[in-house]
Amino acid sequence: MRLSLRLCIASVIVLTQLVHGALCWGKDGHYTVCKIAEGYFEEETVAAVKKLLPESAEGDLASVCSWPDEIKRFSEWDWTSALHYVNTPDYRCNYEYCRDCHDSHKQKDVCVTGAIFNYTKQLMTASDNLHTLVHSYNLTEALMFLSHYMGDIHQPLHTGFPGDLGGNTIILNWYHNQTNLHRVWDNMIIETALKTYYNSSLPLMIQSLEAKLTNRWSHKVQSWESCKHKQTACPNQYASESIKLACKYAYRNATPGTTLGDEYFLSRLPVLEKRLAQGGIRLAATLNRIFSAKPKLSSA
Ligand code: ADE
Ligand code: ZN
Ligand code: ZN
Repeated sequence: MRLSLRLCIASVIVLTQLVHGALCWGKDGHYTVCKIAEGYFEEETVAAVKKLLPESAEGDLASVCSWPDEIKRFSEWDWTSALHYVNTPDYRCNYEYCRDCHDSHKQKDVCVTGAIFNYTKQLMTASDNLHTLVHSYNLTEALMFLSHYMGDIHQPLHTGFPGDLGGNTIILNWYHNQTNLHRVWDNMIIETALKTYYNSSLPLMIQSLEAKLTNRWSHKVQSWESCKHKQTACPNQYASESIKLACKYAYRNATPGTTLGDEYFLSRLPVLEKRLAQGGIRLAATLNRIFSAKPKLSSA
């Protein structure tokens, strides 16, 4: 084989891996969101979650929050791939459910906000019957999907532009490593923060976010928890926030071929930390609304 052809094939393989390597908050991001949420569960939620978790979780929701990422490469779960994100029209820094929530075949409601509405409704419908467990849905899966997608929707680039697949095709350098912009937000910022500030310990980072929630952000928590119009879940609000943050922080100064380093890391880390904390608080608030013993006045 000619050298140029071999180089061409090699670069296609590298590019494909860079684009498709990681498509969601990495394991650490999802674990963090779910661990923070667990600390804000009401009593009924603790009981319901314990009942619904698979045995392999050993009572810990956070341990199964990346499950939807693990299954999506299997063909029978192919249909879930488009449920991890929603895209707005290119360079349009706003989000609208009716315009934007569809898959690449224009199938309506197939996107992360649609998925959050759907799994909230499934759990709501069944939560009255949790004692008898009479239901037609797999509620264990519904809980794991909802917990995962509540994390995804808080990653700014999971509400991104279709032209660059939410930053997946923007190839650039993170310090000395080649990667793509989406991966920077799913993994690299967290990884660098862990090494720089937390002695590579995820529990220490989670502890620090929990401390910020009881200090710096304590006056914000109530507003983060609340949904307008007595809704059980309000993913449209989170998607609107995400695309605004994607435009203002993620895409800005991150064009193909650039090298992102200290300046980008230090200015974006506070944004990412706040999104992880908000994801945790809102997952807990949503599950508390679903499983609360109070009569339910509205649906998702
Ligand atoms: N694929 C296409 N758009 C995407 C996005 N915004 N996030 C993750 N994967 C995607
Ligand atoms: Zn995901
Ligand atoms: Zn992602």
